[in-house]
Amino acid sequence: MERKVADKAQRHFVTGVSMITSNGYFGKNVMAAEWTMQISYDPLLIATFLHESSITLKNIQKTKEFGVNVASEKQSTLVNIAGGYSGSEIDKLKVNNSFTFLKSKFIKAPIIANCTINAECRLFSIKKMGDHVMVVGKVVAMRYDKTIKPLLYHTGRYYQIGDLIEPFRQQVRVNKSTFKWFSKEADGKFILKCNGAIIKSGRKVLFLKYTKNNMNYETIPYLKPKRGVNYLQSLQEYLKNMEIDVRLKPEPIMKRLVLENKNRKQRVNFVLFEGTIRNGSSRILLEKKDSELLKAFYS
Ligand SMILES: Cc1cc2nc3c(=O)[nH]c(=O)nc-3n(C[C@H](O)[C@H](O)[C@H](O)COP(=O)(O)O)c2cc1C
Repeated sequence: MERKVADKAQRHFVTGVSMITSNGYFGKNVMAAEWTMQISYDPLLIATFLHESSITLKNIQKTKEFGVNVASEKQSTLVNIAGGYSGSEIDKLKVNNSFTFLKSKFIKAPIIANCTINAECRLFSIKKMGDHVMVVGKVVAMRYDKTIKPLLYHTGRYYQIGDLIEPFRQQVRVNKSTFKWFSKEADGKFILKCNGAIIKSGRKVLFLKYTKNNMNYETIPYLKPKRGVNYLQSLQEYLKNMEIDVRLKPEPIMKRLVLENKNRKQRVNFVLFEGTIRNGSSRILLEKKDSELLKAFYS
């Protein structure tokens, strides 16, 4: 590996910055650690990667507890203090006009006010990893303030969170019954996932027409995928059970749609496989339909 390139490339990761608080050899202390993140939901675990010479690491080894304080966009000066000096050099927490504290519930280390997240952790695991030590804490208390935006760190500089990115979705106006069908399928889920086939023959397209209690919909054959199960295989099986004999191309096509009817919206993510009818399956119904939904699949 070319060291020079790696040295530059590693600065291009993007992280937040946490301030790790601890208590020990030099009294209460804080250090900046960008390499900090949640790594498990249950139990709720946070890992932070500390270099071996940090006083913070020694404190945590001694007391088996620490605080994680996710810095806000207004705390870059605090981060500079926490990251620029060692607790063996100065008492960082007492620098004038700098840190204010909240009362911690379970640990002796302080927690810092006005952060996006404060977590109190008990040492869960510790392991040397290359030239840093992975310190994993089990969270015993946590608080957050959704109005406080986190600080970002990239190429050695601090940034604020920018504009929200709304991933592109094709908007499709559908009739009431089609909308009803898909929102019923979604059953309250924000996004409905569908695994479907587009089967063409000449200028005709296979679609399913369903009529029951005035509910009719027009769509391609699809099924709701099961998590972790191969889409192509399950679709093939599904079509076989419907006695539709097709050959599916293995390349998935993604269609991220938002179905709209009046003011209502339902997001649907289709993964589609293009198929051709095998000889001898003349019994399947093919029709060319001018439905908005089908048009969306071909655009
Ligand atoms: C923005 C920023 C991020 C940092 N991230 C880390 C980190 O993830 N791990 C680490 O070991 N040191 C990191 N440091 C360096 C430590 O904060 C620094 O060595 C500190 O002086 C250690 O303090 P202590 O000896 O009082 O524990 C970072 C410094 C800055 C400014």
